[in-house]
Amino acid sequence: LILIGGFVQLLAGFLAFRKYDHLGGAAFLTFSALWSSYGATKVLCAAPVSGHLLDIGAGNTEGFTAGSVAFLVLNAFLIILASSFNVVLLCLTLAMELLTICFLLFTLENLPLPFETVVLSILSVICFYGATASLTNCMFGKDLLMMGPPLLTVQSSKKDREDPLPCVCPKSHLTSGLRTIAELLNTGAVCGVPTDTVYALAASCKHPQAIEKVYRIKDRPQEKPICIFISNLEQLRAAAPPISPLLWEFMENVYPGGVGCIIRKGEWLKKLGVGAGYSRVGTQDSIMIRVPDLTVLVHLIDMTGPLAITSANPSGEADSTHHDMVISRLGHKLEGVLCDGESDEVVASTVVNCTKIDESGITIVREGCIPAGKVMQIFERVKNR
Ligand SMILES: *[C@@H]1O[C@H](CO)[C@@H](O)[C@H](O)[C@H]1NC(C)=O
Repeated sequence: LILIGGFVQLLAGFLAFRKYDHLGGAAFLTFSALWSSYGATKVLCAAPVSGHLLDIGAGNTEGFTAGSVAFLVLNAFLIILASSFNVVLLCLTLAMELLTICFLLFTLENLPLPFETVVLSILSVICFYGATASLTNCMFGKDLLMMGPPLLTVQSSKKDREDPLPCVCPKSHLTSGLRTIAELLNTGAVCGVPTDTVYALAASCKHPQAIEKVYRIKDRPQEKPICIFISNLEQLRAAAPPISPLLWEFMENVYPGGVGCIIRKGEWLKKLGVGAGYSRVGTQDSIMIRVPDLTVLVHLIDMTGPLAITSANPSGEADSTHHDMVISRLGHKLEGVLCDGESDEVVASTVVNCTKIDESGITIVREGCIPAGKVMQIFERVKNR
């Protein structure tokens, strides 16, 4: 029975670890080690006496005594830690402390039976309640059975857990999170956002000073252009740019997705919502337009208007493929990061120069997540139609 208990605790330990509960995991693993050795010693000594076996048992008790003293100390630490989690965990560690004392007495061959029984039953009640409570809370996703409040809330440690984020970092699947980031962008802030490729820095096209800030944040050379993300081609149509039927057809075939088309710049950009930022996006006579294939980003653009976008890495460094990378590398310079976890791609978009599409066709400026061959194939198909 005791061995089974050890096994269950081992299981609980691994489960706790999987839920990133390191204290719980460590505690359960230690408990299961103690528990099993307790069980093993018991079995050894209770085994019908072949004198040999008992000798081994007796010979080892010194080791076990030392072990349980060490565990007493370790468990004392766990008790302190547990007191900042919840009452149930605290009781569990306290009971384990009692059990350790039990074990210690046992190795000294000085264990009163009633004491052991009491301790074991207290422990099993707590374990049973704790297991049931966490199971139900886990299954229903809320606190149905009380785990008890933390007794010792260390003020500073709580702050430590929330404060290391240098900026606002809402989750992308929350509407409120999206609104927060949209409001920041609409007031001229620079935020990290997920795209259908790697993470990017975004600034509203209506705020030229925000676009300036992007250059400063990235230490980006001023002559390198920033591109524009829109949410759909209809937005572009409404601005009535001088785009040939061939180019429209081509764009319809590559958008939405990881391809950016460089087209000629013009006054039509202002109708797109690119106001004062006109001179800060693209080059003097060209601009790269992209329609991302990512629902959260498209929603965000619908809330903010076209966004000036560039990859979220300091110039010359590797791309950011997780929001943690954006937060750790640039978080202190940003107002917010929209957290969307792992990015879909590990390489940036493919950039296509379409400025001379009617005269000499397209050229690949940078090959990214969409193979150049595939883009050319789409172009040939569209052209020959
Ligand atoms: C696009 O191609 C045209 C003609 O080949 C060239 O003049 C222009 O500089 C190119 N633009 C970019 C951004 O590569």
